[in-house]
Amino acid sequence: MTTTITICSTCRHMGRDLPEGAVRDGERLAEKVARLVPENGDLRVRRVACLMGCDHGCNVAIQAEGKLAYVLGRFAPEEEAARAILAYAALHAASPSGQVPFRAWPQGVKGHFVARIPPLDIEGEDKA
Ligand code: FES
Repeated sequence: MTTTITICSTCRHMGRDLPEGAVRDGERLAEKVARLVPENGDLRVRRVACLMGCDHGCNVAIQAEGKLAYVLGRFAPEEEAARAILAYAALHAASPSGQVPFRAWPQGVKGHFVARIPPLDIEGEDKA
């Protein structure tokens, strides 16, 4: 099953100032991740404008149908971050639930988790 890496293309790293018209950090990060994604694998990259976490960019979401989804932030638009995101996404893709044991996390994603979102087919505790 395909895991999608959604990258905010309009992020600025930790909200830093950029000159008008400058390539955004999120786009720079997306380019690096996209370049590293193996072809014909179970990972894909897509770009969106704003994941509403602008103060702690660069932001990324890792999702797959029926699995736990994760939002991660505070990434610099660097090769090291791109490799860590990709390595984590590959582990997510290989996991039936999307959960990846902490001991397996790439060092570069530690401290970057913002949210974990359960799949829609899991009932919550409160019913409205
Ligand atoms: S600009 Fe990236 S989360 Fe808003």
